[in-house]
This record gives sequence, C-alpha cells and structure tokens, in this order.
Amino acid sequence: MTDNNDAVGLIKTAFRGLVVEALSSNKSMTYAEFRSYVIAASPGFENDEIFNVLGRSIFYEECCNMKLKEQQASDSSSSSSSSSSSSSSPTTQEYAIVVAATENYGIGLKGGFPWPRLKKDVDFFKSKTTEPPRASHLNVVIMGRKTWDSIPLKFRPLSDRINIVITSSEITTSGNVHTVASFVDALTKVATLTNTGSVYVIGGARVYADAMAHPWFTKIYLTRVCKEFECDTFMPRIREMGYRLDQCDDLVIDNDVPIQFCVYSKPSQPEKKENEPVQEVEHGSKWG
Ligand SMILES: NC(=O)c1ccc[n+]([C@@H]2O[C@H](COP(=O)([O-])OP(=O)(O)OC[C@H]3O[C@@H](n4cnc5c(N)ncnc54)[C@H](OP(=O)(O)O)[C@@H]3O)[C@@H](O)[C@H]2O)c1
Repeated sequence: MTDNNDAVGLIKTAFRGLVVEALSSNKSMTYAEFRSYVIAASPGFENDEIFNVLGRSIFYEECCNMKLKEQQASDSSSSSSSSSSSSSSPTTQEYAIVVAATENYGIGLKGGFPWPRLKKDVDFFKSKTTEPPRASHLNVVIMGRKTWDSIPLKFRPLSDRINIVITSSEITTSGNVHTVASFVDALTKVATLTNTGSVYVIGGARVYADAMAHPWFTKIYLTRVCKEFECDTFMPRIREMGYRLDQCDDLVIDNDVPIQFCVYSKPSQPEKKENEPVQEVEHGSKWG
C-alpha cells in the first residue's frame, strides 16, 4: 500500500515538473496543448489515466500558482504602498465584496454554485460576513434576488446579518430582510440603519459589477477556485476593475477542489464616513 502511495506520489511530482516546465515555455497553454506537449517530449506519460484522473487538477493548480506569482510580482509595489489600508482588521468597518470564482471569473451555474459544496469556503464566508467590527453591531449583506433564491430556505435570511435584497418585485419572508429596487437604494438603506457593522456585497453578477465600480468598495475577498467548472454566470475581471492583489493564502483542498483565499484592494476614494448620506457621493450614470 505504502509502495503504491509512494509510486503515485512520484508520478505526481514528475507530472508537476512537466507542467511547470511547459507553462514556463508557454504560460497560456491549454490543457489539450499541454497533453500533446508532454506526449511528444515524454512518451512514458502516454497514459490516459494520468491525464484524465491526476493531470488536469495538477495542471490547473500550477496555472493558478503561476498566475498568482505574476500578480504578486506586478502588484508588489502597489501592495506595499497600500498595505496599511489592506489589513483585515476585525475592528474596522469595511465595504467589501465576498465571492468565490474560477480562474475565468465563473461564479454560478443554473441558479446555484458550479462546484460541489466547499465547506472551508462556506465557513470563511460565514465568519467574514457575520463577525461585526464592533460588539452589538450587525453586518449587512447585499445581494441580488437570484442569489437570495439560491440560498436554501432554512438558511435565509442569513442569520446574524441584515439582509438587503435587490429586486423589482417583493420577496416573501420574515426576519431581518429589506428589499430595495437598485444598488444605490441598497446603500441608501444602509445609511438609514443604525448600529451597522461592515457591508458585504455577496452576489450575483450585476451586483458585483455595481459594487466593484463604486468607490466605497475597496476590498474583495476572493476564494479562487483552482479547478475548471462549467459556469453560466460571471463576475467582472477583478484587475480590470482597478483592484490589485494584496495577499493570497496557500492552496488548500476543499472537497477535492483546490482553493485559495485571497484579498484584493483598490485605492480608497473619497472617504466613507459612517452613516454619511449616500447622495453626497457622485455616482456614474449607471446608478441614476
Ligand atoms: N460564487 C459566488 O460567490 C456566488 C455568489 C452569489 C451568487 N452566486 C451564483 O450566481 C448566480 C446568481 O447570480 P445572478 O447574477 O444570476 O443574479 P443576482 O444578481 O443574484 O440576481 C439578479 C436579480 O437581482 C435583481 N437585481 C440585481 N441587480 C439589480 C439592479 N442593479 N437593479 C435592479 N434589480 C437588480 C433583479 O431581480 P428581479 O428579477 O427580482 O427584479 C435581477 O433579476 C447563482 O448561480 C448563484 O449561485 C455565486
């Protein structure tokens, strides 16, 4: 048994070496191209089982690692200048986005998550969005109606958080839930509430896009899902929206899926003071 494990370990290590070598020669190589490359260079790897069972996940893990290293290198200067504002101090009220996404920024499929249940990510989401910066305060979660619909009945509204749902209609529920007609209405609603802690936008696609374009939302907590999943819902590309990588934890395996907890930030714009009226901030026409 041990011998067998050792052999698998050796094959994985050798395979990972080939992936790293291939990606260093062509960082945008697809898995199919990689497969042809390996078979041409090392006929010993001409084995479907390796490619179908082991190879794909190793390949995507290394793609993830490589992209991450590139981002860390290119962001090192901006992250050092913003490091004081990027620390996730639990005592600071923040306006942030919490999301799990694939490398292609896929976030959803057929009204649910594209991946199997990721317990570590669920735990992270719960603690990040629930723990308020000050005792006796409640954090706010803002979401679109379809994201609301995707939460199992027994878990909604999300407990110990003020839930704000954006919809053109009404939702039937009891508890700590407000419905509003637009993203800017959601922020206006937050301004009318008392004892609010941090404000987290938790999806879906359009709500993420609105928050990422808004000057108050200077931080993104991204769970990188380092495996390919079919998706039909996508968030905007983070770096194109002006965010830079602050930090990324090591890969961990969650239900056979390699994931990484990362934090992105963008320079803060006009300071948001607690309970400042929403109207004082200039919005682009999309919020009109
Ligand atoms: N990976 C993740 O972290 C993550 C997080 C959240 C959700 N998801 C996934 O994403 C999918 C749901 O996202 P989605 O993008 O399809 O839908 P969504 O944003 O959750 O909901 C869309 C709906 O919200 C309302 N809405 C949103 N923005 C609005 C605005 N600015 N003005 C007016 N109404 C607005 C509309 O509701 P009405 O139609 O009622 O008017 C719209 O149809 C699901 O698959 C879910 O599992 C993934």
